[in-house]
Amino acid sequence: MQVRDNQLYLGGIRAADLAREYGTPLYVYEEDTIRARYAELVESIPYPKLRIHYACKANANVEILRLLRECGANAETVSQGEILLALQAGFEPNQILYTCSNITVEELRFVLQSGVTMNLDSLSQLRRCGELRPGSSISIRVNQGIGAGHHAHVITGGPESKFGIDVLQLEEAKSIAEQYRLTIIGIHQHIGSNVLDEAILIEAMKALLATAARLPHLEFVDFGGGLGIPYRPDDRRLNLRAFGQEASALFAAFCRSYGKELTMVLEPGRYLVAEAGTLLATVTDVKRSPHRTFVGIDSGFNHLIRPAMYGAYHPIVNASRVQGQEEVVTVAGNLCEAGDVFARDRTLTRCEEGDLLAILNAGAYGFAMSSNYNARPKPAEILVSAGRANLIRPRERLEWSSPY
Ligand code: LLP
Repeated sequence: MQVRDNQLYLGGIRAADLAREYGTPLYVYEEDTIRARYAELVESIPYPKLRIHYACKANANVEILRLLRECGANAETVSQGEILLALQAGFEPNQILYTCSNITVEELRFVLQSGVTMNLDSLSQLRRCGELRPGSSISIRVNQGIGAGHHAHVITGGPESKFGIDVLQLEEAKSIAEQYRLTIIGIHQHIGSNVLDEAILIEAMKALLATAARLPHLEFVDFGGGLGIPYRPDDRRLNLRAFGQEASALFAAFCRSYGKELTMVLEPGRYLVAEAGTLLATVTDVKRSPHRTFVGIDSGFNHLIRPAMYGAYHPIVNASRVQGQEEVVTVAGNLCEAGDVFARDRTLTRCEEGDLLAILNAGAYGFAMSSNYNARPKPAEILVSAGRANLIRPRERLEWSSPY
């Protein structure tokens, strides 16, 4: 965190100046952090045939996609819209992986025509894909019964998860593929999100490799995303170097016994963008009730739903006065819903109306999950680097024509 004269700076620019120029609420992304995270990830994994597919769902702003493409990333998509955004950002179809969940035949047709690599999630999709385009090369997502993540909503492996072809049905998947001359060139799993224990990631890798050994025509093995970041002050940082070393050794040994040097694919979303993003909001109302102090801001869970949806913790800083007399407060949004709270019992420097609050680590699943609840417009997004800011999405405006 950059602080000068007790004020918060982002990308070399005073947060207050950004707020003045672009208004609040405002999403600010620091380019250098995204570049650094990408470089750090790639450097930590020595296995040479590594491909990173950035999970666009974490933050699908087309300029963020462009930036990650420039860094060397490929794209992982989950909808027709994300494929279109990835193409708009300059990714070639062969750099795009599409993982489906309960898709329509129309969407399946679109994906097949677009030429991206298809990662199928069910036996029915395999059959439909075979009927529409027999002879294709495809990847399959398997559910190995292993799940992990920061909240039940983000655990994507295990018997309760809607995702993947159960590993017990692998032979059935293979025979459907054979029936339609589909070549299974990829195998995929994603166990969940914000995993901070590299041992779980390694255990899941081992399980996937045991299944991969049963598919003779593989070109890649995709271990999904899930690499976590520390949100709470006492969260430990993932030991990326240890993970990268172990994952590479494991994969290289697998490839030796498989008899072919396969591509290792990872699909990080959060890891690359979460720490680069800050949601700036203005304090509109300080309510010192007999029980609590409520710091009300001009944003709500329509802009950052993670605290309301998962009870997620985001660090919050008074950007106008980073240090000073402190106060324990509830930081609340401007929506008509009691759960519209960003933090409870949080110690902040004493807030005054007009102060600027910075909600940190908001670059992943922030704007991407925003909505127009309460008919409130979405914020602007800017990308900052070395003292320069670029508007990468204008603020939504209310379209208002008075009936009177
Ligand atoms: N690959 C697949 C197939 C996925 O479903 C996901 C995330 C990722 C990759 C990227 O996961 P990551 O590296 O970002 O953990 N909204 C939740 C997270 C939902 C993740 C959904 N899938 C949150 O805000 O915590």
